[in-house]
Amino acid sequence: MQSLIQHSFGGPDVLVLEERPRPVRNFGDVLVRVHAASVNPIDLYTRAGVMPILGPAPVVPGWDISGVVEEIELGTTTFKVGDEVFGMPLFPRAANAYAEYVVAPAGQLWHKPAQLSHAQAASLALAGLTSLQALRDIARLQPSQRVLVHGAGGGVGHLAVQVAKAMGAHVIATASASKHAFVRRCGADEVIDYTAVDFTEQVRDMDVVFDVVGGDCAERSLQVLRPGGIVVTALGLSHGHMPALAAAAGKRFSSVAVQPDGAGLRQLAEWVAAGRLMPHVSQTFPLAEGARAHRALEAGSMLGKAALILV
Ligand SMILES: NC(=O)c1ccc[n+]([C@@H]2O[C@H](COP(=O)([O-])OP(=O)(O)OC[C@H]3O[C@@H](n4cnc5c(N)ncnc54)[C@H](OP(=O)(O)O)[C@@H]3O)[C@@H](O)[C@H]2O)c1
Repeated sequence: MQSLIQHSFGGPDVLVLEERPRPVRNFGDVLVRVHAASVNPIDLYTRAGVMPILGPAPVVPGWDISGVVEEIELGTTTFKVGDEVFGMPLFPRAANAYAEYVVAPAGQLWHKPAQLSHAQAASLALAGLTSLQALRDIARLQPSQRVLVHGAGGGVGHLAVQVAKAMGAHVIATASASKHAFVRRCGADEVIDYTAVDFTEQVRDMDVVFDVVGGDCAERSLQVLRPGGIVVTALGLSHGHMPALAAAAGKRFSSVAVQPDGAGLRQLAEWVAAGRLMPHVSQTFPLAEGARAHRALEAGSMLGKAALILV
């Protein structure tokens, strides 16, 4: 099968197309013919070697897939051969998703919503589960609560806005001005141009803040929380001081580390079917042009998501 592989860590050009053996299905696994794989910032970090969670090179990057079931364990009832499925299997262990075939535990996949292309479904898995786990499972967002979503025009943010709306929240979002119309179409009730104004002077009494930006965003976000409110960050590594800082202010802090979750994918798929959730893919690339996809995401102005198309 064709696969994008890297024999060293570095810039986008370390990604090369190679013929490799198909993965072997283990007990309980599903073999998926991949039709699309989405590109996430974590793929850039693993490629560059700044997050060496895939182990030593050679490695095949990627987690997000959508495709068609080609082989399955006898007795598996959730899927049958020929079903369209999507997911982000095995994260943070290697899934080798930039390839024509991927093996995945059946419980870490769900049926692709018929409304979505494979590129859209692949783009929904990791970013959508991150939003769901941050807002529903960690923040325990309630209907009518006020949530501030930072980075709302990006891969995670545009889905977080929609997840929060699907949960009945009032959503305020930060994004650069060129993305405001898009973020409003995602359902944001109010949008702040973080390049023009300081969000800490624009909002207050938030129940939940979701940070996918990093830097001092989480710390500054404490200022806009109501007493007892919570900041959840997707960039938790440099935030060791935050729980104590938040507690001293009578507020809460947590970080999300996304996990494979078949039931979570099912919830996302149900919202898609109900017209509440729609991943936006602004750029697609053939598998062979994975380096170009990485450059595009690295440029930092992606609207929604980028995906690699294999079929
Ligand atoms: N912990 C986890 O489990 C987990 C899961 C998924 C992602 N992540 C991390 O979350 C981060 C975001 O991922 P992503 O896929 O959403 O990336 P992305 O598609 O690049 O989106 C990031 C967005 O942030 C916006 N932005 C940049 N600076 C900002 C600021 N100061 N205030 C508000 N918005 C700002 C950018 O757009 P504009 O500047 O044009 O508005 C961009 O749309 C990455 O670092 C990723 O690794 C973590």
